[in-house]
Amino acid sequence: MEQSANTNQEAISSPKHQKLGMKKALKFNPYEPGFQTNPYPIYHSLRSVEPIHQSFTGMWVLTRYADAKAVLRDSRFCVDKMSKKVKHKSSYLNHQNLDRLAQVIDKWLIFLDPPEHTRLRGLISKAFSSTSLKFLRPQIQQIADELIDKVQHRGFMDIISDFACPLPCNVIAAILGVPIEDWSKLYHWSDELSNILDPLRSLEDYEQMNKVALEFTDYFKNLITQRQKNLQQDFLSALIVVKEQDNKLSEEEIISVCMLLFFAGEETTVNLIGNGMLALLRHPQQMQQLKLQPTLIQSAVEEILRYDSPIQITTRVATEDVNMDGITIRVGEKVLVALGAANRDPAQFPHPDCFDITRVNNSHLAFADGIHYCLGAVLTRMEAEIAINALVQQLPELKLSQDKLEWRNKVAFRSLKALPVIFKPTNLK
Ligand code: HEM
Repeated sequence: MEQSANTNQEAISSPKHQKLGMKKALKFNPYEPGFQTNPYPIYHSLRSVEPIHQSFTGMWVLTRYADAKAVLRDSRFCVDKMSKKVKHKSSYLNHQNLDRLAQVIDKWLIFLDPPEHTRLRGLISKAFSSTSLKFLRPQIQQIADELIDKVQHRGFMDIISDFACPLPCNVIAAILGVPIEDWSKLYHWSDELSNILDPLRSLEDYEQMNKVALEFTDYFKNLITQRQKNLQQDFLSALIVVKEQDNKLSEEEIISVCMLLFFAGEETTVNLIGNGMLALLRHPQQMQQLKLQPTLIQSAVEEILRYDSPIQITTRVATEDVNMDGITIRVGEKVLVALGAANRDPAQFPHPDCFDITRVNNSHLAFADGIHYCLGAVLTRMEAEIAINALVQQLPELKLSQDKLEWRNKVAFRSLKALPVIFKPTNLK
C-alpha cells in the first residue's frame, strides 16, 4: 500500500489553527509533487484535524464522507460555471477569443443547474437508455482482446498507452457511430479537452482547447448531417430523434453532448483501468484471487473506484449561507468536495486504506451523488470489468517492471503517466 509521501504538515496556518494557537498547520495544496504521488495521508490528516478546512485559495475543502455526500445532494449548492471563467480568460487574449469553447461547455451537464440541467439530462438519459449497452459487451471484449493481441508476444507493455488509453475512446466512438478511421483523432481531441477541469492552465492551453472545440464542432456538424439523412442504431441517431413532450435537442446541444461524452468518459476510464491494475499489481494476493475467481470482478471494480478514485475532486458554490457543523459557508463561497478523501473515510469504510476486492457495502462516491451522479456509470463499470479481467486472465505472470511511478500533473484526475509491466510472452492466437 502506498503510504510513503510526506504528510504535508509544514505550512501556512489556517484561521482555525491560529485561534487554537497552533504554530504550523495543515494545508491543502494539490500542486505539491508529494500530493500527486499520494494524496491519502494528507486527506487523513485534514479529516482528523480540520474536516471542513479553508484552504489558502479561500475554498472550503471537505474530506468527510458524510459532508461530501450532504453537499452533493444539497440544492443550496450550485455548480461552478466554467463557461463564465473561459469568457473571462478571452479578455486577456489579443487576437483570439475563446467563444467556441465557452459556447460548447455552456451546455455541459456538469456545469448546469436546474431547470436547464433537468431538461437536458432527461433528454440525454432517454437517448442513452434507448441505445442498448448490452450489445456493446462483445464489441468491448473484442477491442480489449485486439489490444492485448498486439503486445502478447512481446512480454512487456505500458498498460496506459498500449491499452487503457485507446480502449475507452474507441468504445465511445463506437457508441456514437464515429467511423473507425477517425477514432485516434478524437482521442487526441478529448485528451486536450481534459485540461478544462484544471484550474491552473496557461492561456495557450485555453487557445488550444478552443481550437479543438472548433475542430470538434465541424466534425460533428458533418456527422449529424449525414445521420439526419440516414439514421442508424447508434447513440448519435438516438440524440437526433429523442423527444420529450415538445422538447428536442438542438444541433448545438447535440455537439456539446458528444464532446462531453469524450471528455467525461475518456480519461476517467483510463484512470479506472490504470489505477485498478496498479492496485492489483501491488496486492498480488488479490490479483491471484481475481484470477482464480473472475466473477469477483464486479466487487473488484467497486473497490478500485473507492480505493483510488479516478476523479478526486469536484466543486460546488453556496447559493446562500449554509451552516456545516458550526462553520458558516457564505453565499458565493466555493466548496471543494474531495471525493477521493470521502472514499477513504474510516467512519464510512472499515480499514479504508486496505484494498479488498471482496469488500461489501461499498457505497463510494467515485461517481458523485445527487442530480449530477455520473451518467456513464453503467458503461464504465462494464468497460472496466471486461478490460481488467482481460489483462488479469490473458497475461501470465504479470508484474510491475518498475516501482517508481509518475502521476500526471492534474488536480481533478488521478492519472498515471505510464504503467510499465512485464509478463510471460505467449504466441498470437
Ligand atoms: C471511471 C469512470 C468515470 C468516473 C469516475 C466518472 C465520474 C463522474 C463524476 C464524479 C461525475 C459528477 C461530477 C460532478 O458532480 O461535479 C460524473 C458526471 C458525468 N459523467 Fe462520469 N465518470 C466516469 C465515466 C463516464 C463515462 C464513460 C461517461 C459517458 C460515456 C460519463 C458521463 C458523465 C456525464 C454525462 C456526467 C454529467 C452528469 C450530470 O452532470 O448530470 N462518465 N462522472
